[in-house]
Amino acid sequence: MEVRPYRPQTDFRAVLNAQCDLYRINFPRFVCTPGFLADQAQRLRQAQRRPYENGLFVLEDAGEVVGFVWVAVRMDLQGPYGSVDQIYLKPEYRRRRLGSLLLDAAHRYLKEQGLDLSRLYVTAENRDAVRLYERMGYRVTRLEMERPL
Ligand SMILES: CC(C)(COP(=O)(O)OP(=O)(O)OC[C@H]1O[C@@H](n2cnc3c(N)ncnc32)[C@H](O)[C@@H]1OP(=O)(O)O)[C@@H](O)C(=O)NCCC(=O)NCCS
Repeated sequence: MEVRPYRPQTDFRAVLNAQCDLYRINFPRFVCTPGFLADQAQRLRQAQRRPYENGLFVLEDAGEVVGFVWVAVRMDLQGPYGSVDQIYLKPEYRRRRLGSLLLDAAHRYLKEQGLDLSRLYVTAENRDAVRLYERMGYRVTRLEMERPL
């Protein structure tokens, strides 16, 4: 099992195929449509063309992509920061502490880009993800709140 940089020719399909599952888990009202997948494919192609703004790493097991992480270099009013946009493991690879291997690679990449802060958004009910992030040193700095109308 190894984490290695994403290779467009061989890994594009695996990352795209995970998109519906990733969004379904985190957004209860999400519906996966062909339009959504087309948008994600375009985002991924754009990311491939901008390696200094997008770090993509995959977890490979016996030649198969079984997980990935996608981070981006961003800027807001407080300055530049790294954003963990996506992290995903195939179901049978979850709960084996493999997510931290992917995050380690992502953090290394962001540091190489000169950044000193990594940020992410996570659905509060996704307890495994929250726990992984806490273990990796992430702390809550803002809260998104909602209520039914
Ligand atoms: C989120 C995700 C990347 C986490 O990675 P992971 O490698 O599976 O996480 P870990 O193995 O470190 O487990 C995280 C937590 O789950 C819980 N957990 C893990 N194995 C468990 C088990 N056998 N029984 C009960 N709880 C368990 C623990 O709380 C654990 O944290 P801890 O070991 O520090 O206590 C992975 O679950 C995933 O791909 N999920 C689907 C996609 C997703 O939701 N991505 C996040 C979007 S923000």
